[in-house]
Amino acid sequence: MAAVAGLFSAFLLLLSSLSADSFQYQTLTPHSHTLPHPLQLTNSLDSQIQVSSTLENQNTISLDLHHLDALSLPTNATPEALFRHRLFRDSIRVKTIASLAAVNRTKADFSSSVISGLAQGSGEYFTRIGIGTPPRYAYMVLDTGSDVVWIQCSPCRRCYTQSDPIFDPTKSKSFGGVACGSPLCNRLDSPGCNQRKKCMYQVSYGDGSFTVGEFSTETLTFRKTKVNNIAFGCGHDNEGLFVGAAGLLGLGRGKLSFPNQAGRQFGSKFSYCLVDRSMSAKPSSLVFGNAAVSRVARFTPLLNNPKLDTFYYVGLTGISVGGVRVPGISSSLFQLDNSGNGGVIIDSGTSVTRLTRPAYVALRNAFLSGASHLKRGPNFSLFDACFDLSGKTEVKVPTVVMHFTGADVSLPASNYLIPVDSNGSFCLAFAGTTSGLSIIGNIQQQGFRVVYDLAGSRVGFAPKGCA
Ligand SMILES: *[C@@H]1O[C@H](CO)[C@@H](O)[C@H](O)[C@H]1NC(C)=O
Ligand SMILES: *[C@@H]1O[C@H](CO)[C@@H](O)[C@H](O)[C@H]1NC(C)=O
Ligand SMILES: *[C@@H]1O[C@H](CO)[C@@H](O)[C@H](O)[C@H]1NC(C)=O
Repeated sequence: MAAVAGLFSAFLLLLSSLSADSFQYQTLTPHSHTLPHPLQLTNSLDSQIQVSSTLENQNTISLDLHHLDALSLPTNATPEALFRHRLFRDSIRVKTIASLAAVNRTKADFSSSVISGLAQGSGEYFTRIGIGTPPRYAYMVLDTGSDVVWIQCSPCRRCYTQSDPIFDPTKSKSFGGVACGSPLCNRLDSPGCNQRKKCMYQVSYGDGSFTVGEFSTETLTFRKTKVNNIAFGCGHDNEGLFVGAAGLLGLGRGKLSFPNQAGRQFGSKFSYCLVDRSMSAKPSSLVFGNAAVSRVARFTPLLNNPKLDTFYYVGLTGISVGGVRVPGISSSLFQLDNSGNGGVIIDSGTSVTRLTRPAYVALRNAFLSGASHLKRGPNFSLFDACFDLSGKTEVKVPTVVMHFTGADVSLPASNYLIPVDSNGSFCLAFAGTTSGLSIIGNIQQQGFRVVYDLAGSRVGFAPKGCA
């Protein structure tokens, strides 16, 4: 008996030493990663329209995405300044999303908490589309964290500076009004009515910015594809800390978002692939339609928040570091409860993934112990697991896998160890949040084709999806 027990414990010992030996690493090549520089925008829309796309037809749209850094001023900002500003926008977006999710929302107070538009932190990517007939081309920010589509319209009571002329609805043959009390108007969370009996919308932001105007319908043109009768806000009064885009294309899960409005034409599906800008100058891309669904994507079901239909909630059950489930990270830390608290959303406009604090601390500690062979560096901004990788061409770093319900997503090393300066300082690109809501940010999504299948109520991840 004792011999058997001895054999058994020797076996256990062997197992544990095996698992220690099989701790998984992958290679990061620090010298090939730099802080992203802003790319010059070719302001001519024609360069974009004439790109021939084999995908393009009436039921598919394929677009280039540009990062917000390219619209940032001053245009000669250093990569360090751009990165710090990105982290600043990120903190505002996270705060706004958290306050949105925390508030008990009713029809009456909805407008005060809606996030949308081009306030600081309204989205990290934009594209160029045509508005009206004939189409007037302008830059629009894309936002998976809001629904309402809107643009600045003349006459302006107040308009912020944008890089294209302001849209004039009187010059468009396809512009249509929406009557007060109509079903379309009533889809707004807080519809209004003006003296001309036209439906009014208003969208406010966490930082006090807002846009107000007539809710209207219009034709949008994406390269050669027209989409008719899209309800959008024609903003005559737009105030706040805005970036220089003309408006916003809401890609949220709510009824008034662009993918839901154009559902008949594009099957309520879209996907994007965000290029790792620390390594590549290729543009990111966005596809609407059935072609958006990658065959190699792994899918996880979307969850419903009874209080909020805009965000894309997913089930996160755990995270592995080095091939081992981090013991302190259980699905209970990510639970979305019946009153809409907690949960995990996936968002394109947040950069750094935020995890509820206990989950973050457990992840960080597991990562640091797996990366004890690397030289630590000082904390940087919100990051407290940083490394001095200066002079290194190659380092081994622990693998990180996010376990979603039904989909394990194995992150490339550059999706969690990112350069924070030009001297070889890299940080673990996760952070903790005291809010119960966790957010999967765009750094962790880099290189994956992320598929939003609203009709199938699921989100998918396809590795190496930017090709
Ligand atoms: C939100 O509503 C729930 C009931 O639906 C209530 O229990 C909770 O206290 C409310 N929270 C706030 C912050 O008002
Ligand atoms: C980095 O931040 C962590 C937690 O925020 C703190 O405990 C630690 O002392 C900081 N390290 C340095 C070198 O400042
Ligand atoms: C990085 O280099 C810059 C100058 O190029 C210097 O100001 C900064 O202190 C350096 N940072 C670190 C962490 O060494």
